[in-house]
Amino acid sequence: MKKIGIIGMGYVGLPLWINFSKNGFQAVGFDANKDIVSALNKGQSYIGHIPSEDINESMKVGSYGTSDMSEIQSVDAIIICVPTPISKNREPDLQYVKSVMRQAAPFLRKGQLISLESTTYPGTTEELIIPVIEEQNFTIGRDFYVVYSPERENPGGDIRQENITKILGGATKACAQKGHALYGKVFKEVNIVSSIKIAELTKLLENIHRAVNLGMINEFKMICDKMGVDTMEVVDAAATKPFGFVPYYPGPGWGGHCIPVDPFYFSWKAKEFGMNARFIELAGEMNLNVQDWLQDKILHVLNLDGIALSSSKILLLGLSYKENVDDARESPSLRLYDWISSNGGHVKYSDPHFPKFPSSMKYSFKDSSVKLTSASLKKFDLVVLLTKHKDFDYSLIKKYSKRIIDTRGVFAPNQKTVFRG
Ligand SMILES: NC(=O)c1ccc[n+]([C@@H]2O[C@H](COP(=O)([O-])OP(=O)(O)OC[C@H]3O[C@@H](n4cnc5c(N)ncnc54)[C@H](O)[C@@H]3O)[C@@H](O)[C@H]2O)c1
Repeated sequence: MKKIGIIGMGYVGLPLWINFSKNGFQAVGFDANKDIVSALNKGQSYIGHIPSEDINESMKVGSYGTSDMSEIQSVDAIIICVPTPISKNREPDLQYVKSVMRQAAPFLRKGQLISLESTTYPGTTEELIIPVIEEQNFTIGRDFYVVYSPERENPGGDIRQENITKILGGATKACAQKGHALYGKVFKEVNIVSSIKIAELTKLLENIHRAVNLGMINEFKMICDKMGVDTMEVVDAAATKPFGFVPYYPGPGWGGHCIPVDPFYFSWKAKEFGMNARFIELAGEMNLNVQDWLQDKILHVLNLDGIALSSSKILLLGLSYKENVDDARESPSLRLYDWISSNGGHVKYSDPHFPKFPSSMKYSFKDSSVKLTSASLKKFDLVVLLTKHKDFDYSLIKKYSKRIIDTRGVFAPNQKTVFRG
């Protein structure tokens, strides 16, 4: 296999496109968004932590972007990395996967491999991918190959993609072998599991594990706070144990496209089997309760200075849901900004990754990032640290803020100005 197609050139697809290109593949990046395709073909990165040089290097081996699905017929393997969100009622929304299959179907050809990487419930590949291929009269495992291989991208993280073990489940043994032959050229380790469902569930377990532990530590924090104890110090102390403990740190609530979303793919499917995934429901409750708790904390800290929320000036530090990335999807910062603003407070934000407030379906605030200086910090009654970006000047923030609520444990606790939690 020499030429591959990656459908969905976002946070997952773009690094994969670069990785395949680095290994000598000609990678075609398919995206419905023409602005993304145009940026790609100009060698310009549209994701903060991915340098344009990586895109330019990839173009040297002939890799490019397109919105034209008919080009699917020219590739040997197709990797699907489109979004898999949930609806308002926390039900899987697979419209993007379905639409990709509908558009690609007429251009599928004998001998190709399809790999679904989007996170989803067990059974999706068998229900949504395989039937479309069979409708084209291909026999899976003989003249067409299907695998599920979950993406384990950690945007902004230190581990290089090729060093993260790739999980892979095939529809048949021949499918798994084809998948191994492809991914083995790009990833150091490929771990083949016995079925597609195991691979689909592996990804869900990883994210459920994180969601549940975040819910647990956020509940622990709310109780420790009542006891007058600093949770971060407890976690740091427990983390000195060299076995049987994994440190999770509390924060302002969950965010991102994965952790607040993916576990509900599992709980939704569980219902089909008459089961309730109660840990997941509870994690959802705790990770949202902690946001109410933070709002109460804000009211409490403002009250110390006799300030009502409606006449307060509050600066939020960090809009991204995690540090050092330009991704604000499902970010608790956006919900907090909305809460302060809709209660009449004067709210501003500072985030080096968002010069302008990110517009989304839910929020359309016209605002721009505050430059942090002694003068700008002094203007606010309260500063709330929500994202631990490395580009923030923490000593400046500490020196000139009147009051700080530190949800990330950056500052040492100090009764007068810093409230950790
Ligand atoms: N972001 C992460 O850190 C991460 C990590 C692991 C897994 N995942 C999973 O990977 C999948 C993709 O996530 P993402 O963060 O890269 O999403 P994203 O929104 O950043 O990118 C998806 C891209 O798909 C494109 N797209 C949508 N429909 C299309 C279509 N019909 N044809 C062509 N392109 C189409 C969109 O324009 C967008 O550019 C999701 O299932 C997600 O849960 C994400």
